[in-house]
Formats: sequence, C-alpha cells, structure tokens
Amino acid sequence: MLYLHFGDEREEGYWLKCFKQQAPGLQVVTAKDKLAPEAVKWVGVWNPKPNFFKAFPNLQGVFALSAGVDALVARDDLPSSLPIMRLLDAGMAQQMIDYLLWVALTLQGDFDLYLQRQKQKNWQPELSKNPTKPRVGILGLGTLGIKVAQKFSQLGYSVSGWKRTAAFVEGVEVLVGDEGFVNLLKKTDLLVNLLPNTAATNKILNKANLEKLPQGASLVNIGRGQQLVDKDLISLLDTQHLRLAVLDVFSTEPLPENHPFWAHSQVIITPHIAAYTLPELAVEQVVNNLKRLAKGEKPTGLVDSTLGY
Ligand SMILES: NC(=O)c1ccc[n+]([C@@H]2O[C@H](COP(=O)([O-])OP(=O)(O)OC[C@H]3O[C@@H](n4cnc5c(N)ncnc54)[C@H](OP(=O)(O)O)[C@@H]3O)[C@@H](O)[C@H]2O)c1
Repeated sequence: MLYLHFGDEREEGYWLKCFKQQAPGLQVVTAKDKLAPEAVKWVGVWNPKPNFFKAFPNLQGVFALSAGVDALVARDDLPSSLPIMRLLDAGMAQQMIDYLLWVALTLQGDFDLYLQRQKQKNWQPELSKNPTKPRVGILGLGTLGIKVAQKFSQLGYSVSGWKRTAAFVEGVEVLVGDEGFVNLLKKTDLLVNLLPNTAATNKILNKANLEKLPQGASLVNIGRGQQLVDKDLISLLDTQHLRLAVLDVFSTEPLPENHPFWAHSQVIITPHIAAYTLPELAVEQVVNNLKRLAKGEKPTGLVDSTLGY
C-alpha cells in the first residue's frame, strides 16, 4: 500500500489514475481515504508541510515525486535512517534540453538584446552575427546533466561538465574538484547549473565564482535558487561582466513581487517550469521500486543522506 500526498486534489486524482492503469493490484490511498496512519508504510510525496511525516509511526520509506530532494533530506520529522527514493529523469531530461536550447539559440541570435531594445522601441540591428556557438559548461553531470551534455555535444557545442566523482562521458570534457571547477568557469560562455542543493553546493553561484566566467558569459539556473547569491548576480549583470541570466528557480518561490530580478533587463524569469515530472513515467519507477523492495532488492534513485542527494 502506498499513501500519496500532493496537497492538491486534482493532482492526486491524476496520479491515482496513473497508478490504477499501471498497477491495478496496488492499493494507493490519499488523505481522503481516512486510513489509520499506523497502517502506512510507504508514502509518495510532493512538497509535504512541516511535521507531515510525524503522523506515520510505521513508515519504512519515502518516494520523492521529484528529482531534487533537498527539501526532504533536511527535515527534522524524517529520521535520516529512513530510505528516500527519488525520480530518475521521468521525462525531465528532454524538457531540460529543450529549455537550454531555447537559451542557447536566444544568445546565438541576440534575441535577448532585441527583447531589451523592443521595450525601448529601438530598431537597432547588431552589425553581424557571432558565427561560433557558446561554449557550454554544466555544473552537475548526473541523471539530467549528462543527457543535456551529450545532446549539446552531438549538436556541435563544445561542452564541459563538473561533477563530484570522475567519469568518462563521450564527447564531454569531465572536470572534478576545485581546480576542475575553476577550469570550467574560465572557458564557459553559457553556464548551466544542474547541481543538487546540498551543504557543498549552497551559494556556489556567488561573485567570487561567477566572476571567473569570461566577460559576456551567461547563466542558467535550473538547479535550486539557494545555490545563487542574488545580489552577486545583479552586480555582475550591472557591470556587464555577465550578459544574461535565465532563472527558473529562486530561494523564495513564488519570487516576491519586490525582488529586483523582475524588472532587470538582463534577467529572464520562468516559474520553476524547466522540467515537469511526467506522472506516467514517475509512476512506473515507483511501482518498480515497490516490487524491488518487496523482494529485498536495492531500489533505484536511493538518496545518500550524508551527501544530501
Ligand atoms: N528546475 C526544474 O524544473 C528542475 C527539475 C528537476 C530537477 N531540478 C534540479 O536538478 C538537480 C539535478 O538533478 P539530477 O537528477 O541530475 O541529480 P543527480 O542525478 O543527483 O546529479 C547530481 C550531479 O551533481 C553532482 N554533484 C553533487 N554534488 C557535487 C559537488 N559537491 N561537487 C561537484 N558535483 C556535485 C553529482 O556528481 P556525481 O555524479 O559525482 O555524484 C552529479 O553529477 C536536482 O537536484 C534539482 O535540484 C530542477
């Protein structure tokens, strides 16, 4: 039996339908079923409120219905010994690729400049187009980052990626450690943050790091808002060290009305939509993991609570 919680009836209804289609024999309940909390062993959650987990004394594990688990690993109502399983891709990598292609093509076509000029009713074409593609640097070559990196490499972009542990990725320069991080920044025109938010990556997009990017570089943050120091970014945009920031995630969401990002001409804001979880693909992963757990096998997407991702 799985207890599903979204805090949104419409959303829960859709996921219940997917579970029914894919695993008709699996009992999936929600708050509406008014089940005794002691009977709940597995929960599937999206953004549960504080103390949510305290209600379930016999919990054996949590399915995060998302790729990022920073909001779950840091909770004090969830013992760190309890396994958390997260989603692997579940349709998100292709959406990230599409989002990042939009940004790369915006830069290549100078469309960000034309959007700014349109607001000033300014008909001013650039003298020429830059014939070279931006060099792409990806922070985080995990489930999502690796697919993005390989697609951009196949499309003829020069791609570097940074991760914690060394690996070989066809067509991509893989860098590790502090030195690798600085090397990547120095040769990146389009920096993409796809790191999980952990103690080691919090505020990593700060002035000291971002100013290592070449003059005129751009940033896309599709990781987590807590990894960016907002005022540092604004100062680097204002001095034209950075050209454009495309931000999908923010330390406070929704982004407060009075935040300076809203009105900044070199910032493009999207409301945490770079990649949606596709319920059909996510449900398949949860169902397979429940089968694995029932057989005593290791589930996929198991989070390392010490590393925080
Ligand atoms: N905006 C959105 O709509 C949206 C949607 C989905 C996900 N996200 C964000 O994207 C993040 C990445 O997702 P994912 O599924 O690709 O995660 P993942 O598979 O866990 O990959 C994380 C990557 O980051 C690297 N990493 C972690 N800590 C590091 C450190 N201290 N130094 C260097 N590299 C480090 C890992 O290195 P190793 O490979 O060496 O372990 C790995 O390559 C999520 O955590 C979430 O915050 C955003």
